[in-house]
Order: sequence, then structure tokens, then C-alpha cells
Amino acid sequence: MASRSAFGILIVFIFLWTAADASAFLPPKIFNVLNYGARADGNTDNSQAFLRAWIDACRWKGRSRVLIPGGIYLLHSVTFLGPCLGEMTFMIRGTLRAPNNPALFFTDTWIGFRYVDNLSVKGGGYLDGQGASAWPYNDCFKNSQCLSLPISLRFDFIRNSKIQYIRSINSKKAHINLFACDNINISYVRLTAPENAPNTDGIHIGASTNIKISRVNIGTGDDCISMVSGSQNIDISEVNCGPGHGISIGSLGRGFENEYVMGISVRNATFSNTQNGVRIKTWSPSLSSLAANISFHNIIMQNVNNPVIIDQKYCPSCPPSGDESVSKVQIRDVKFSNIWGTSSSQVALSLQCSKLVPCQDVKLVDIDLAYRGQGGPAIASCSNVIGTSYGRQVPRGCL
Ligand SMILES: *[C@@H]1O[C@H](CO)[C@@H](O)[C@H](O)[C@H]1NC(C)=O
Ligand SMILES: *[C@@H]1O[C@H](CO)[C@@H](O)[C@H](O)[C@H]1NC(C)=O
Ligand SMILES: *[C@@H]1O[C@H](CO)[C@@H](O)[C@H](O)[C@H]1NC(C)=O
Ligand SMILES: *[C@@H]1O[C@H](CO)[C@@H](O)[C@H](O)[C@H]1NC(C)=O
Repeated sequence: MASRSAFGILIVFIFLWTAADASAFLPPKIFNVLNYGARADGNTDNSQAFLRAWIDACRWKGRSRVLIPGGIYLLHSVTFLGPCLGEMTFMIRGTLRAPNNPALFFTDTWIGFRYVDNLSVKGGGYLDGQGASAWPYNDCFKNSQCLSLPISLRFDFIRNSKIQYIRSINSKKAHINLFACDNINISYVRLTAPENAPNTDGIHIGASTNIKISRVNIGTGDDCISMVSGSQNIDISEVNCGPGHGISIGSLGRGFENEYVMGISVRNATFSNTQNGVRIKTWSPSLSSLAANISFHNIIMQNVNNPVIIDQKYCPSCPPSGDESVSKVQIRDVKFSNIWGTSSSQVALSLQCSKLVPCQDVKLVDIDLAYRGQGGPAIASCSNVIGTSYGRQVPRGCL
């Protein structure tokens, strides 16, 4: 019997082998950066060695893997270009360390990937952005000498790809940036920077479609996840965010006319000690744009300053005058459901929409947010919002 079933397996195997592209079954060809002159001594710049390994891997017709074994690798700014001839894996087992000096960067990228299809970046390693020396130059509101600082991991024009099992610490600017990407899955990543490190967004998305983010831990000095113009069909689930500024859509309305963000779903997220929870913000004044079909579901707030917020008067550097300038961004079809926990400010729910184009079709379903500080309980504050509410409503009074 045993030999007969072994024979069966062999037949099935031969069938699969001949039926499908054989290369899919072969192990990937390994391009180890150590064979290209890389040195894990923490001092030698490895950007050229990594590039040589990438170029060979990219020209390989079949699956290939650029391997960065354990160890600490100093790496200056580098961008890995496609298109490549086969599936690419960039396997980071070691620690990649950015140069300390922010003035050494002449681009806005530390590690970039461009024009690659079927890329997988993974390996369990670390990206150490060495941000502490750069952060003082990052805050253009406070510092006249503000430099253009690099994003740690930048993906431009990347399709059908995955980013998994990567840790990024102390990025100089954003940890991960997606621009003009399609069908990207990000999971099991951990992104950390101190709460007071300016502009260190966790994942920043623009002009990208079909992005899935799940099982990520983000604690940083700016938004955990932010989505700006051209973000469409973004599915975010199982996120732990904190510290940070929450998950944000916007700021919208400062680029071109008729921009949009659409089809955003955020589920099963926990926010701990963040400045905001779930937020939509548009510049004031702003051009006409659209933010629509957005849902926030199953969200836990732990001591969050603005748990639920729509802010159509966003303008941090504007004088706090009577606001005659209004946003022309239309926000519609937004659902907040099953959101509960604690607010660290009394206004737990704040929907401040535009006088000119009120928010439409907003739904509040099962909201339960407590404020335990002085002058409590929690209150809701809304203006120019059209919509409905049902289920539990604490605080109530908005819709
Ligand atoms: C990427 O994967 C798709 C689907 O499997 C395949 O059609 C395409 O040829 C691949 N491209 C590269 C460069 O591997
Ligand atoms: C991302 O995940 C979705 C759903 O799990 C899947 O359909 C899609 O093929 C995945 N994309 C990539 C590039 O792995
Ligand atoms: C709304 O967005 C979801 C993704 O969150 C998408 O599946 C759905 O098709 C969108 N609906 C409309 C009417 O665009
Ligand atoms: C979200 O949480 C609910 C309730 O805990 C669970 O049933 C559901 O499977 C989760 N969904 C995702 C996408 O994690």
C-alpha cells in the first residue's frame, strides 16, 4: 500500500511539474550581499554592494532572493530599480543602519524600491533610521533651518507585492511611504519612534490602490497610518497604534482640484494614549475634493485625546482668527461603528464639517466613549453634519 500511494504522489508531482511553470517550484536563487563586497561591520557603506546584488538578482529569470544575513550594515541612501525579470525577495535578516548625519542625504529616500512587480520585503530584520540627530531639522514650523529628510522605506510604482516581518525604528521622517502602488499587503511589521519625533508617520499612502494592512504595531511621533489624495480601496485591520496621532485621512485639499480618497475600511484597531483615534482632516481653505465611502469599525480607544474627529479647519500655522476661509472638500458616506473606550479630553466626539459643503450620510452606530477627568462626562460637538445615528450613543447629541 505504501509504495502505491508514493507512486500516486509521484504522478501528481509530475503532473504539477509539467502543468505549471516549473520555476515556481524551484527554490529561489540566492544573491547574498556578502558575496558582493558587503561588510557587516557597522562602518562600511554598503549601498554599492547591495545595489550590485540587486542588479544581478533583478536580471535573473526566475525567483531570486537578495539576502542580507545577520549583522549590522551601514547603508547610505539607495534605490533598487525594476522592472525585474522574475519575482524578487529582499530578505533582511540583519540590521540596516542609516548614517547619523541628516546632511548626508540629498534625496528624500533612505531605502527605495521603484518599478518592481512581485516584490517581497521581509526577513525579520531591523531598519534603524538613526533619526534622533535629524528630528530637530524636521519641524518646519519651529525650525527655520528645516532639511528635506529621508523616508526610511519608500515604495514608488510597486505592484503585487508584500512587506512583512520588518521592524523599523527611529526613522528620520516617515517609516514607510507608498506612492503610485497597487496591490500591496503589509503585515507583521513593527514601527517605532518616540512620541515627540516630528513627522515620523508610520505608513503614509498616496496615489495608491488596493492596499491591505493587517497585524501591525505602530508607536511613533506622527500618524500611525495616513492616507492622502489618490488612496483608494485601503483595507486596514488589527492595528495597535500608540503613541502617535492616530489613523488619519488627509490633510486633503491643498494639492490639485478634484482629488479624492475613497473606499477606506479600518477595523479592529486599538489606540493607546494617542493624540487622535480615527480622523479625517481637510485644509482650510482648500480646493474641492472628495473623501467618501469610509468606515471605522470595532475600534478600542484607551486614553485618546480626540477619539473620533472630523476636522475641516485644519491649518496648524494659521492665525486663530474668525474663520472665513472654508474647506471645499466634500466628505460623505462615513460610518463610525462599535467604537468604545476612554477619551483623555472632554470632547470625545468632534465632527466639524465645512459650512460650504456639509458632511453627508454620516452614520454613528454604537459609540461608547467615557471621559473621567474634571468637568466630565464626555461631550460630543458637531457642526454642519448630515446623517443618522443608532444603537448606543455616549456621548450623545450629534445626529
Ligand atoms: C508577477 O506575477 C504575475 C502573476 O503571477 C505574473 O503574471 C507576472 O509575470 C509576474 N511578473 C514578474 C516580473 O515576476
Ligand atoms: C493580499 O491579500 C489579499 C487578500 O488576503 C490577496 O487577495 C492578494 O492576492 C494579496 N496580494 C499580494 C500581493 O500578496
Ligand atoms: C466602498 O469601499 C469598499 C472598501 O472599503 C469597497 O469594497 C466598496 O466597493 C466601496 N463601495 C462603493 C459604492 O464604492
Ligand atoms: C475583528 O474582531 C472581531 C470581534 O473580536 C472578530 O470576530 C473578527 O474576526 C475580527 N476581524 C478581523 C478582520 O480581524
